[in-house]
This record gives sequence, C-alpha cells and structure tokens, in this order.
Amino acid sequence: MLVVGLQGSPRRKGNTQFLLSTFMQAAEDLGARTSVIDVTQKEIVPCKEYTVCEKKGYCPIEDDVKYEIYPLLRQADVVVVASPIFFYNMTAQLKAVVDRCQTFWARKYKLKLKDPGAGMRRGILLAVGATKGKNLFEGLNLTTQYFFDAIWAKFENSLTYRGIEGSKDMANHPSVIEDVAKAAERLLKPFQGRKKVLFACRENACRSQMAGAFAQYLAGDKFEVTNGGSQPADQVNPDMIKAMHEKGIDMAFRVPQSIESAISNNAPDLIVTMGCGEECPHVPGAQMLDWDLPDPAGKPPDFMRAVRDEIENNVKNLIKELK
Ligand SMILES: Cc1cc2nc3c(=O)[nH]c(=O)nc-3n(C[C@H](O)[C@H](O)[C@H](O)COP(=O)(O)O)c2cc1C
Repeated sequence: MLVVGLQGSPRRKGNTQFLLSTFMQAAEDLGARTSVIDVTQKEIVPCKEYTVCEKKGYCPIEDDVKYEIYPLLRQADVVVVASPIFFYNMTAQLKAVVDRCQTFWARKYKLKLKDPGAGMRRGILLAVGATKGKNLFEGLNLTTQYFFDAIWAKFENSLTYRGIEGSKDMANHPSVIEDVAKAAERLLKPFQGRKKVLFACRENACRSQMAGAFAQYLAGDKFEVTNGGSQPADQVNPDMIKAMHEKGIDMAFRVPQSIESAISNNAPDLIVTMGCGEECPHVPGAQMLDWDLPDPAGKPPDFMRAVRDEIENNVKNLIKELK
C-alpha cells in the first residue's frame, strides 16, 4: 500500500513536518510504502484557469504537478494533507496544488470517468494552528473535503492541534505520538491482508495496465495490485486509454514501469503474465498464472476492445477463484 503525504509548511523542521513524519513512520511500521511531497520545494505553477482541463481533461501547464504529483495521487491508497493554518486555511503553496487538481475534478465530473482506485482511497488531514478558536480549522476542513472528493479519496479522519506556535510545540505535545499511531492503524487497516498481485506484460503500456485497472476497480478490497513490463515503454498506449474510457475507466497519469521496480516495491503473492515472453518474472514462493493474450498495440480499435474485454473476463474469473 502506498501512503502519499503532501507537506504544506514552508518552515523547516516545524510542527507540520514533525506531525507528518510521525504519521509516515507509523504507516511504515504498519507495512506501507510512503512518499512525501514537500510542496514548498517543488516547481508548482498556480492554476491559470485556461479551462483546458474542463474541456479536454488535462492541464497544459508543465511542472512538478504534472510530472510528479498527478501520477503519485493516482497511485496512492492513502493521501495525507498536512498544513499549518495560514489565515484560516492551508498554506498558499499547498492550495496551489489543490487548485491544479481541478484536472481530477474535471475528469470526474465533466468527462464522467472513474479512477480505478476510487473504491479504496482514503484521506486524512493533519493540521496545526497557533490560536485556540472554535472555527480555527473550518476553512481548511472544507477545502480538504472538496480536494479529497476530486481525487476520489474518502475523507476519513483529521488530527488538528490548537495552540501550536513555536517550532517545537508539536514535538512536545503530550499525546501526539499515541494519537498518530491510533489514527494510522485505523486508516490502514482495510489495506492490510490483501492478496498482492502483479500483472506483467512486455511494455506495461496496454495489457498489464488494463488488467491492473480492472482488478483494482472490481476488487480493490481483495487485491493490492501492481503491474510492470519486461521492456517498459515511455508512456501508456493512447489507444488503450480510449478503449478503457469507453468502459468509463480513467487511465490517465499512469507511467509504465519495469517488472523489477514493480517487484521491488511490493513482492507479489501472485504473478499473472501476459506476453512478457522469456523475461517473465520468477519470484520464489509466488503463485504463477499465464494468460495467452495477443499484443493489441498498433492494431485496429476493435482488436484493442476485444483484448480489453477478454482481460476484464479473466479478471472477473480470477476474483471468483480467489474468493
Ligand atoms: C502567514 C501566517 C499566517 C498564519 N495564520 C494563522 C491563523 O490564521 N490562525 C492561527 O491560529 N495561526 C496562524 N498562523 C500560525 C501558524 O499556524 C503556527 O505558527 C503553526 O504552528 C506553524 O506551523 P509550522 O511550524 O508547521 O509551520 C499563521 C502563521 C503564518 C506564518
């Protein structure tokens, strides 16, 4: 399982950083892989309201949001928003990321596409503020709620601390370690004990991407899915994206990866191969399954659709068998 943290404070070694790193450590102790994006250190252009995303589903701005943050948010099982209160909301740096996620909002509500991770993804908010007023976290809560909705994450919990101002106040808080450990355990529970399945093909651009997406979409509560290729392509196949869109499934922001990197992230219990040939992986102890599927790359749309439908059927059968 992958936990992605968005670190929104510009203060080095301050309260937010402490809170987020404590949470990430607790997640790792529970078996998660973690990735922290310090948004204050990234090249992030605020939304320019070109409205391209609302018409076409993508943002034309080329920066770290496009190349790093969108793909990570799509891979994440859990997203952690961490920010100090700045004028009753998150910091401007973090808000810039949230605004750029209008692209996800547009894909969901305008293009009516569903992220395969939709059923499982969860979100948690970690926040600190100097004052103690009742409404201190209201603005931040609302912004976070709508952000989580756009990225298909269920807003599960928040840990918010008032009266935190000096840079070490959070580290000296009497109950923070216990609060975080409890929250992490509750949040990660549904992701534990799932069967780890690797779908492998040659380029990780078509077949294994479709298989992974169907498995995640149809049985994300049973399978922890990954996919890889023996010779990964530079990008996923645009014709495959179109064929999956016909099914209402959103394949945007996916990046092909090698089988080695898929395995190193997550040793699989089951490997399903489909055309990686000689280079199909062998992991000691992992169950193996081979699906004899032709490579649809470069073939007419109907060929791609037929392979897509066969993969969907195979995944449905696999879910039945593994119940
Ligand atoms: C620009 C700015 C705006 C702030 N606005 C608020 C505010 O509206 N309410 C509040 O209680 N604290 C406010 N604070 C205080 C911070 O939330 C507080 O010091 C927090 O502990 C900083 O966390 P950090 O160490 O993670 O950066 C503000 C601080 C700054 C620098």
